Amino acid sequence: MSMSVQDSAREREGFPRPFPGTPSNVLEQLRLNEKVVVVTGAADGIGLAVAEAMAEAGAHVGMWYNSNDAAIQRSQELASAHNVKTAAYKVDVSDPDQVQEAIAKVVKDFGKMDVFVANAGMAISKGLLETSLDEYQKQMSVNVDGVVFCAKHAGAIFKNQGFGNLIITSSISAHIVNVPVDQPIYNATKAYVTHLGKSLAREWREFARVNVVSPGFFDTKMGAGPDVVDEAYRMSALGRQGHVKEIKGLYLYLASNASSYMTGSDLLIDGGYVLP
Ligand SMILES: NC(=O)c1ccc[n+]([C@@H]2O[C@H](COP(=O)([O-])OP(=O)(O)OC[C@H]3O[C@@H](n4cnc5c(N)ncnc54)[C@H](OP(=O)(O)O)[C@@H]3O)[C@@H](O)[C@H]2O)c1
Repeated sequence: MSMSVQDSAREREGFPRPFPGTPSNVLEQLRLNEKVVVVTGAADGIGLAVAEAMAEAGAHVGMWYNSNDAAIQRSQELASAHNVKTAAYKVDVSDPDQVQEAIAKVVKDFGKMDVFVANAGMAISKGLLETSLDEYQKQMSVNVDGVVFCAKHAGAIFKNQGFGNLIITSSISAHIVNVPVDQPIYNATKAYVTHLGKSLAREWREFARVNVVSPGFFDTKMGAGPDVVDEAYRMSALGRQGHVKEIKGLYLYLASNASSYMTGSDLLIDGGYVLP
């Protein structure tokens, strides 16, 4: 039964909680000096842009990759360009043991983990009737299992530390049935992680924030392919795909103290794609 007005008017011990001791200057709030950030799928595309943003703001960055070992050189370049510590880790996020070991290694190497960006993903854009069970399982293993494994092991660290911040890369495909190519499994994997993120924001309310980013089409390997690109231009109010430099500020905001009152949010960044 829901609470009566009298019940809900009763004072609860410990509330209201104190405001955080963060600076009031917004540019200081955005600085990540001495924070440790892990980004999955960091060799290229959105993940690389996020890793750059974090290093540019002063964070130490663990860059996870799966097959693209360009992450190793890119992590070295970021370290020397921004005078931060970086390291590249080869991790298949669909393997729970690799995820657990890599998170333990990050904490050993950097001493803590402030932010985890669960960004790795993949798509096999086909209708369900054309999708084999292996193709279904593959998408589930990276986009769903991978995020769950990362969240589970990162969350355990956050709980131990008493602080943490999880950011999940979802998609507009969690909000809309994307057109013109049918891709129900990809869409559903992204809807799963969006709701997972919101649910974890409540579960972890005592020690960590959790937010979700839902990009529209960005010009990466997973961006609009030849068969959908014209529709992507037409659907986007801005008439184009996003450049990855245009997503850096959002992840920085979520990773930083500037977003200290934000948890459980799902932020669209799509050039107005889902408006019509
Ligand atoms: N670009 C878009 O239009 C768009 C729109 C909405 C959402 N997204 C989402 O944004 C995220 C990043 O995609 P992107 O656009 O930047 O494309 P991308 O450059 O192809 O990035 C995908 C990343 O996921 C990693 N990955 C794939 N399978 C993995 C596995 N088993 N273990 C670990 N990492 C794995 C890849 O790592 P390796 O290359 O090292 O194998 C790659 O770095 C994805 O979650 C995607 O669904 C993209």
